[in-house]
Amino acid sequence: MSIPLFEHYPALEKRLPWIPLGSWPTPVHQLEMLGKTINYPNIWVKRDDLTSKIYGGNKIRKLEFLLADALKKGCRWVVTYGGIGTNHGLATVIHGKTHGLRTALVLVKQPLTDHVQENLLLDCYYGAEMHYAPTMLAGFLQTAGVYLRHGRVYFIPPGGSSTTGSIGFINAAFEMKQQVDAGLLPEPEYIFCALGSKGTMAGLLAGTRLAGMKSKVIGIRVTEQWLSKPHKVARLANDTISMLHKQDSSVPLIKFSLQDINVTHDFFGGGYGRETPEGRSARSLLMDTENIRLELTYTAKTFAAMLDYINKNPGLKNAPLLYWHTYSAVDFTDILLKADQTRLPDSLQWCFKDNLIHPAWEARTTAPQPNREENSRTAS
Ligand SMILES: Cc1ncc(COP(=O)(O)O)c(C=O)c1O
Repeated sequence: MSIPLFEHYPALEKRLPWIPLGSWPTPVHQLEMLGKTINYPNIWVKRDDLTSKIYGGNKIRKLEFLLADALKKGCRWVVTYGGIGTNHGLATVIHGKTHGLRTALVLVKQPLTDHVQENLLLDCYYGAEMHYAPTMLAGFLQTAGVYLRHGRVYFIPPGGSSTTGSIGFINAAFEMKQQVDAGLLPEPEYIFCALGSKGTMAGLLAGTRLAGMKSKVIGIRVTEQWLSKPHKVARLANDTISMLHKQDSSVPLIKFSLQDINVTHDFFGGGYGRETPEGRSARSLLMDTENIRLELTYTAKTFAAMLDYINKNPGLKNAPLLYWHTYSAVDFTDILLKADQTRLPDSLQWCFKDNLIHPAWEARTTAPQPNREENSRTAS
């Protein structure tokens, strides 16, 4: 099986380890009902929520390169980091397991929500080795412990955002270019994506240029400023392109500078994982009009920013806009209803002092669930 990046640069196929984890290409379609509701018909969505039936979202694209690299290096364990509700961590646990890799998670504090509790229960259910790190020093010691216990361990940085991981989103841009060429969507004038650990935005930025598109990528910052600084996005895009160029000199050495990076800071809401009223109303609007589910840490803030951009820029004149949807659509209701929090390590039991899931769960089960039947079947 080939992928759009390798079709464009065949020499890379022999040099870059890659394993298929998802169903490609992910669909693209117009958000017609939303367009009618807000009187801006030319909004499109890239459905990376549907990347995989066992766990979808944006991380799968990065993991296809990262886990392949881990396997090539003969590792049986990976270690990675994130907040206690990390989607990247959960994606690594689930997809690593399907390839015989065990995952150790080093987890730091973030605001406790039902979503955080759900991800912790799922990490545990799928067999993660979980470590809570209340301080930097604790995180360092726990990581050292993982290496001492398991020997050959593959390190994945937070969010999977290394140069290797970002190649996944360079490939994603080539995939979208093929869809544009096939007439499935117009070339977007702007692409809106969440900006967390940077790999998604950096990869899309690099990939759209390499694929010859003029689309401008707008990243919506949802993490603390120090993690997602625009110059760091440019650096990651440049480093990823250089890495590809080293493997295949026909990859042009495009360079991005600070002026090329469009980041919106206004929807952060004062904290990673902190819910915002704009995010909540964007989430309801997309569910009511298109039956597409957003979560409140990344995607709802991103969608809210795109709606705001449309409102504030009448000069857009119905130019094509693309929202890149990055949150997994897989529904884990069945597993969560039988999950047992007492199996989590003692250091994480404080996260379950109050049960946040079940009251929220009742509300959710009355809302329309995308692919609910199919997903609960595949997840169990
Ligand atoms: C649902 C979702 N969207 C977007 C992102 C941000 O992507 P990146 O970390 O590549 O910036 C994440 C990262 O964890 C995520 O979980």
